[in-house]
Amino acid sequence: MSDLRFDQRVQLTVPRAPRDGVAVGKAILIGEHFVVHGAPALAVPVAGRAVRVRVSPGAGAWRCGDAGRAHIEALLVRLRLAPDEMAVEVDATLPVGMGLGSSAALAVALLRALDAPPDRVRELAHDLERVAHGTPSGVDDAVVALERPVWFVRGSPVEPLTWPSRPPLVIATTPRHGTTQIAVAAVRRWADGHPSRFAALLAAATADAEAARRALEAGRWDVLGALLDRAHDRLRDVGVSNAALDRLCDAARSAGAFGAKLTGAGLGGAMIALARDPVDVAAALGEAGALEVFAA
Ligand code: PMV
Repeated sequence: MSDLRFDQRVQLTVPRAPRDGVAVGKAILIGEHFVVHGAPALAVPVAGRAVRVRVSPGAGAWRCGDAGRAHIEALLVRLRLAPDEMAVEVDATLPVGMGLGSSAALAVALLRALDAPPDRVRELAHDLERVAHGTPSGVDDAVVALERPVWFVRGSPVEPLTWPSRPPLVIATTPRHGTTQIAVAAVRRWADGHPSRFAALLAAATADAEAARRALEAGRWDVLGALLDRAHDRLRDVGVSNAALDRLCDAARSAGAFGAKLTGAGLGGAMIALARDPVDVAAALGEAGALEVFAA
């Protein structure tokens, strides 16, 4: 999405009374890392946890937890609003820094609290994501603003998809060791060291993402689950899984999940399981040492 021209921008105003905005997170169903090298990725909204932002008029106490006041002030300045004319409170049940779209959810919730026109929230959120990420791909802001699954190929516009019903996901988190940039660099090193193996993995990632899209659109969770398992194996092969993520994926499968994989950049962070019985799978993930577990 290109930069917004000044004349296209919406001038938001501070609400006259306290106003809340809420946004959910996202999970990459399939395609992380391989998307950097040209394969498609499929991401879905996660309904189980959210970010809630309350904007109140006038100088007042700010409460913004992990989001950080300086970051929110930078978002407000980007929106051409004066941070000292309002108070902002943030309550996030969505885990932060786990690849679950918390910065996009914060941006969308803030825009909703500021009563941004619903049909402009996505583009404004994309612009705000530049403050957090520099050059965001557009996946997170599209999934979070539209609350729809999206299909993404680098260099092409994000394509929103429809689904017959939400896939029954259970999400679990583990301590994160490293950043997205570190994980992306590690995969690039692995690819450089194993060019023919990486080419084969990239071809399989492309075919499996296309199959996963068809399975998602058809509601075939059994087919989708097997594709998630294979995606996890590829991510482990290129070095971004770890013992904790592998243990959680194994535990979810043993508890009857259709399939399980890490989601996002890896090196810890979150995993997803497509669950026949979300209660049993969530219990198994808790017993296997997850930090947090929730159904989405
Ligand atoms: O930052 P996360 O955890 O949402 O995942 C990023 C996805 C990667 O494919 C690893 C990186 C990218 O830019 O696509």
